[in-house]
Amino acid sequence: MLDVGCGSATLSTQTFTSYFESTIGIDISEVKIEEAKRLNKCGNVAFELIDGYDFPVEDNSVHLITFATSIHFLDLKLLEKKCERVLKPGGCCAAYAINWGDITGFSVGRTDWRQNRVLLNLIVEDFYVNIKAHLNIFAALRRNQQVYDQILNSSKIKLQEIVREREMTLRQLKNVFRTVGDYVIFMKHEKSTTDPLEFHIYIRILHF
Ligand SMILES: C[S@@+](CC[C@H](N)C(=O)[O-])C[C@H]1O[C@@H](n2cnc3c(N)ncnc32)[C@H](O)[C@@H]1O
Repeated sequence: MLDVGCGSATLSTQTFTSYFESTIGIDISEVKIEEAKRLNKCGNVAFELIDGYDFPVEDNSVHLITFATSIHFLDLKLLEKKCERVLKPGGCCAAYAINWGDITGFSVGRTDWRQNRVLLNLIVEDFYVNIKAHLNIFAALRRNQQVYDQILNSSKIKLQEIVREREMTLRQLKNVFRTVGDYVIFMKHEKSTTDPLEFHIYIRILHF
């Protein structure tokens, strides 16, 4: 099994090792590969510092290739050819991502507050525009449909069954967005006195 863009491998590669004879995690980041090696608890796994296209395995030798929230970094046309080379007949590529689905807001003060949901996806998109977010972030907000559309293989299937609903306060939601890398960079570089998260979203919600 091959895990492409394994990162520190605790959420991806290590999950699969017990199902396979041997597993390889590859990543382009030296820091991540070092971390993966340090945190590894499994015997049948190797980690290699490699660009996601140069799979360090023989032709027809892999049952499963995974891309855990990493496929959007890669050129899909090139990737499909590389996958075809190493996959065994009947082998499988699985790319998965954690996406926001619909983000809805409601006013807690009302008695029928659960019925009064307002879709906030456009506000979130606005926020991404403001912080000059990378295009991949917009793709994720649209459930990576563009990435899926680019895959040429006719046997592709998109699964969206694993849906989890989570309630959080506006403050908690903002704290999630504070972890977005582009937001951190924006706040550092722009040295802006206006925090787009505090100002923009707050005002727009008041207008509903
Ligand atoms: C969002 S992280 C996901 C890490 C891990 N799979 C997980 O689920 O925790 C994406 C990873 O893809 C890696 N990556 C990006 N471009 C790559 C490339 N061309 N080749 C290999 N890895 C790449 C990054 O270094 C990063 O570790």
